[in-house]
Amino acid sequence: MANAQEGDLVLLMSPDGKKFMIRLQADQALHTHRGVIAHNALLGAPLGRTVYTHLGHPFLALEPSLHDLLMNVRRTTQIMYPKEIGYALLKLNVGNGKRVAEAGSGSGALTIALAHAVSPDGRVYSYEVREDMLNLARKNVDRVGLLPYVEFKLRDIAEGLDETDLDACFLDVREPWQYLEQVSRAVKPGGFFGALVPTANQVIDTLLGLQRAGFGAVEVEELIMRPYKPVPGRLRPVDRMVAHTGYLIFARTPTVGEAALPAEAGQVEGEAAGPEGGETPADEQG
Ligand SMILES: C[S@@+](CC[C@H](N)C(=O)[O-])C[C@H]1O[C@@H](n2cnc3c(N)ncnc32)[C@H](O)[C@@H]1O
Repeated sequence: MANAQEGDLVLLMSPDGKKFMIRLQADQALHTHRGVIAHNALLGAPLGRTVYTHLGHPFLALEPSLHDLLMNVRRTTQIMYPKEIGYALLKLNVGNGKRVAEAGSGSGALTIALAHAVSPDGRVYSYEVREDMLNLARKNVDRVGLLPYVEFKLRDIAEGLDETDLDACFLDVREPWQYLEQVSRAVKPGGFFGALVPTANQVIDTLLGLQRAGFGAVEVEELIMRPYKPVPGRLRPVDRMVAHTGYLIFARTPTVGEAALPAEAGQVEGEAAGPEGGETPADEQG
């Protein structure tokens, strides 16, 4: 692994599991509850090692994951959480070379994941109606070095998107059903659409909107993640968890020609297994 240099982001983990993200700068220091760590102690050496505070406490110096970077964005809006982001990237088929739009940019958490996925050959078009939010998202994306893959646009998407023939579009706005015609014009026929909304009422409005606008293969999903205390002798869930983040809605944009996509997503025939594919879960067999 390359040696850590000035400007690199480094994750420092204390003996009690607290995480600190720093950008390395010569002669700077991180002040923690266990003492001070000089950046100079990290510069010029590979990560994946232990450094010590001036009080002698060991911290792990690690390369941050994309998950760490997302959870560390400066935020003034609710951000989209990694469990939804990871799944949405798969559902929207986002990868290198894809052209993808999103609204709104918010704090830029989803933007970072999209930019990471489409790079180096693709592009993210990120629309945001509030200038302060757009600037925050841009700063957060720049901080992790992904700005070259993102075009930010200060605009209410009610006014439409500039792009056509996009591969996918994701809406993380309060009323996604208001902008489905705009999405249809920007995304190629049969392309990928996704939205995240916090309440069931918004899901219903979005479903009605998707029906009206001729979208097909509609799916509504909720992801619940229960973290565990990783203690081998007493393995059990943590006491408190985030019980609700949001509902995910996925669909395909209207197709051309006579045969429309089915309104709801059907089972995938063939090799796939599990609840979405061929096999029925054991507790449903009967
Ligand atoms: C929940 S935040 C998005 C969070 C973002 N996905 C993230 O992961 O950080 C919603 C954002 O959408 C913006 N927004 C709401 N309606 C909009 C519209 N019609 N056009 C563009 N942006 C909009 C809001 O200003 C707000 O910043």
